[in-house]
Amino acid sequence: MSSKVPPLTLPLRIAMIGSGAVSRHHFPAFRDRPGVIRLSAICEKNPQAASAFAAQFPYPVPIFGELDDLLEKAQVDAALVVLPHNLHFPVASKLVAEGIPVLVEKPLTCSLEEARALKKLSSETGVQIVAVRTGFVKDDQGSLWRPAFNLHRSSSPLLRGPDHVW
Ligand SMILES: NC(=O)c1ccc[n+]([C@@H]2O[C@H](COP(=O)([O-])OP(=O)(O)OC[C@H]3O[C@@H](n4cnc5c(N)ncnc54)[C@H](O)[C@@H]3O)[C@@H](O)[C@H]2O)c1
Repeated sequence: MSSKVPPLTLPLRIAMIGSGAVSRHHFPAFRDRPGVIRLSAICEKNPQAASAFAAQFPYPVPIFGELDDLLEKAQVDAALVVLPHNLHFPVASKLVAEGIPVLVEKPLTCSLEEARALKKLSSETGVQIVAVRTGFVKDDQGSLWRPAFNLHRSSSPLLRGPDHVW
C-alpha cells in the first residue's frame, strides 16, 4: 500500500498536542534545530499552558483548543502527542488516519489492543508512529530526539530529510 505521507521540505512543521509538563523537554530540539523543525501549532485545552509554551518561540505559534480545528487550519508535517495516557490512542489514531506521522510520549497506549490497532493503522497507511520516553533519548549535548529518531530513520519517510539531521 502506498504511503499518504507527502514529500517533505525543511523545516518540518511540527504540531504539539498538549503543552503541559513534559512538553518542555521537547523545546530544546526546536531551539537547537530551527532550520530542521518548526513548531507550527499547539493544541491545548488550557490556554495559559499553551500561551506560556508558545511564548518561548521567536515566531508566532497558532494555538487551538480542539484537534479538529488544528487539523483544519494548521500546516502540519508531523505531531508530538504529549497528552494524558487515555488520549494517546484516540489522538494518535486520528493523526495517523490524517496522514500525519506522530511521536507519542510513553506509554504508547493504555492497552495492548490499542497498541495493536495503532500498529495496524500505521501499516495500512504507511504513516509512522514512534513512542518515546524523552528522558532516555538525550544525546551528548543534552538535546532531545536524535537517538530515538535515529532508531527509526531507515524506515521512516519523516526522517529522510535532505540533511538527515534527525
Ligand atoms: N518522556 C518522559 O520522560 C515522560 C515523563 C513523564 C511523563 N511522560 C508522559 O507524557 C505525557 C504527558 O505528561 P505531562 O506530565 O506533560 O502531563 P500534563 O498533565 O502536564 O500535560 C498534559 C497537557 O495536555 C492537556 N490536555 C488534556 N486533554 C487535552 C485535550 N483533549 N486536548 C488538548 N490538550 C489536552 C492538558 O491541559 C495538559 O496541559 C503522559 O502520557 C506521561 O506519561 C513522559
